[in-house]
Amino acid sequence: MILDGKKTAEEITLSTKELIEKENYKITLALILVGNNPASEIYVRNKKIACAKVGIEVKGYNLPEVTSEEELINIIKDCNKDDEVNGILVQMPLPKHMDETKVINTIDPKKDVDGLTVINQGKLIGGLPTIASATPRGVITLLKKYDIELTGKNVVIVGRSILVGKPLALLFLQNNSTVTICHSKTKNIKEITKQADILVAAIGKPKFFTVDMVKEGAVVVDVGINRIESGICGDVDFEEVSKIASFISPVPKGVGPMTIASLLENIVECYKMQKNIL
Ligand SMILES: NC(=O)c1ccc[n+]([C@@H]2O[C@H](COP(=O)([O-])OP(=O)(O)OC[C@H]3O[C@@H](n4cnc5c(N)ncnc54)[C@H](OP(=O)(O)O)[C@@H]3O)[C@@H](O)[C@H]2O)c1
Repeated sequence: MILDGKKTAEEITLSTKELIEKENYKITLALILVGNNPASEIYVRNKKIACAKVGIEVKGYNLPEVTSEEELINIIKDCNKDDEVNGILVQMPLPKHMDETKVINTIDPKKDVDGLTVINQGKLIGGLPTIASATPRGVITLLKKYDIELTGKNVVIVGRSILVGKPLALLFLQNNSTVTICHSKTKNIKEITKQADILVAAIGKPKFFTVDMVKEGAVVVDVGINRIESGICGDVDFEEVSKIASFISPVPKGVGPMTIASLLENIVECYKMQKNIL
């Protein structure tokens, strides 16, 4: 069965829009793009469209590649101070001359809609209420939407980035799963992925996960987005693996739209936190 991220994301987007309208929330996101990375430009454009759909105002910053780290940090500091700005998103990756960790951690954690500051990541480790980054949040929401049991399940996540693999592992732990994280130095990866009741692929290698790496009946979540000659594909060999998986998310129309919808939820949550709305 297909885990339909597009449909689920549309439902979340609609309920977010209804909430914003009903409660008359006035929300503004500062969306900062540095340079001209074509993929980043597409992501930023999609985020702007999604915000417009639900009535979130976007204050866009398109900064040239040569922007200094100090200039960027000053813009973030201004956004931190500005009561009209409820969320701040700096599109990654940043140009090579910038220290991403330093830039991210300049963001006020209450406005950190991507959940990437050490404060918000630390809260996630501590099991405290926080903003979890959008892709991991989207993965859990998608699985729950399809009533997939997480408690006691063997979850194998391949990929350990701070954006996807690590926070996702913590969210699965919060949901009582037994979690294994694999990465590029993992030995005998196939033996581990074969044990997974739920396999999450997040490495950025087209069709890396072949049918012999997946247990019959497993749930497979494909986070990867890879550009190949014929278009976009995930990290999983969808054609073959979908024959043996019980559930599988496609690429596109899987985790991608869930990420955007979850970002909208994160922006609303930041706003509510700032306004002390329970
Ligand atoms: N759908 C969405 O909305 C969404 C959102 C974010 C990212 N993505 C996609 O998800 C993928 C991963 O993104 P990311 O930001 O997490 O990437 P990343 O920062 O490049 O991390 C990739 C991870 O995969 C591991 N890895 C690479 N090759 C491997 C291999 N052959 N075997 C096992 N592990 C391997 C790396 O291990 P090491 O740590 O050992 O290097 C690293 O932990 C990309 O395709 C990206 O485009 C999609």
